[in-house]
Amino acid sequence: MRIVVIGSGYVGLVSGACFADFGHEVICVDKDADKIAKLKAGAIPIYEPGLDALVASNAEAGRLTFATELAAQVADADVVFLAVGTPSRRGDGHADLTYVYQAAKEVGDCANDGLVLATKSTVPVGTGDEVERIVRKARPDLAFDVVSNPEFLREGSAIEDFKRPDRVVIGADSQRARDLMTEVYRPLYLNHSPLMFTDRRTSELIKYAANAFLAVKITYINEMADLCEQVGANVQEVARGIGLDNRIGSKFLHAGPGYGGSCFPKDTLALIKTAQDYNAPTRIVETVAAVNEQRKRAMGRKVIAACGGSVRDKTIAMLGLTFKPNTDDMREAPSIAIATALQDAGAHVRGFDPEGMEQARPVLPGVELCDNAYQCITGADALVIVTEWNEFRALDLKRAHKLLKSPVVVDLRNIYRPDEMARLGFTYTSVGRSSRKD
Ligand code: UGA
Repeated sequence: MRIVVIGSGYVGLVSGACFADFGHEVICVDKDADKIAKLKAGAIPIYEPGLDALVASNAEAGRLTFATELAAQVADADVVFLAVGTPSRRGDGHADLTYVYQAAKEVGDCANDGLVLATKSTVPVGTGDEVERIVRKARPDLAFDVVSNPEFLREGSAIEDFKRPDRVVIGADSQRARDLMTEVYRPLYLNHSPLMFTDRRTSELIKYAANAFLAVKITYINEMADLCEQVGANVQEVARGIGLDNRIGSKFLHAGPGYGGSCFPKDTLALIKTAQDYNAPTRIVETVAAVNEQRKRAMGRKVIAACGGSVRDKTIAMLGLTFKPNTDDMREAPSIAIATALQDAGAHVRGFDPEGMEQARPVLPGVELCDNAYQCITGADALVIVTEWNEFRALDLKRAHKLLKSPVVVDLRNIYRPDEMARLGFTYTSVGRSSRKD
């Protein structure tokens, strides 16, 4: 099959490379000429484990190419995927659909009969209807289908998620489109990965409902962690104890500094807005979004408390700056709110991240960025684990103890064991694992 993917950001690039690896002929199109030139030269603009090798092997095999001009590519495509960005509209939280609609118009202008236009971008319910209207307006006689095919990829394990998905959701209103989409996902279909067919609006909502549910789950365990600290319980055991119930499930029950990233914060807000627009408010999600925002700032206060109530003129070392490990993405990262809270309280903040330094620089003004973890903690008054990169799990703790000015560790991801940290002489604080004894 010939597949065109519009938008070579995170979703577009991963999807394009994986479709090519399925054996399809894929052209990734992006208006950013600089990005396309780099991709043609083999440079990957994002950090995602395994993506460089996947792009290289498929490009070499001639199945994956890159282009800036849409018109030439769309004419004989079987399926065109929209994978452009849908950022939060400044000021209100609705998803900004400018890029989606622009791309739809351009596709409409040059498509041939039989085209399936599939939306991978995360878009609010009803966007597919509008895309269809735009294409229809451009080409009243064109025979085409508009499909919703949301992605459920996690940054850091996107290729694995794409190739071994829990499910593929396809919202299509015609049998022809369903058949074509089955062909696109043929290797998964043959592997018995669940392909779920539904109508387009339902498919659009599934994406938001899934992300919001996961945000609820994280926020729930975060609140349980706060309660654990007050009552002398252990949140990891609570998570295990409830997670063993199949109805609850053990995943996404890791307490931490609050969720971040390019998806949960943006998508929960967009869902809240849509629900309000339709007069069916999602009060649980509204609360979750507010609680999560407060939590990120509260983590700053937690560090201050661990430092004896003041960080004025103290040096605080933050290890892990990205919103989660195995990515260089700083969007909505808890490290930003934590650094700001500490700086506002008079601290000098240092930071180190294995992959996110370049992205961190512009969003962490005033934070001294270090070359490695040990340099970061040398002479610091406290070490704060903000993101659970594996290299921090393997930190030489004896060395860290010697390098710190005072042996204070605030572990916001629960990567160390309280008993071991006490044995090594640290003053150790983690999340939801109180050592309180009544
Ligand atoms: C999320 C979803 O997991 C994907 O299924 C979805 O496709 C994607 O959004 C998207 O809409 O594009 P992602 O944002 O890459 O993926 O990252 P997650 O692994 O879901 O983590 C999100 C945030 O939640 C991170 O800040 C992470 O640290 C936090 N988290 C996650 C926790 O605090 N606790 C957990 O138990 C799990």
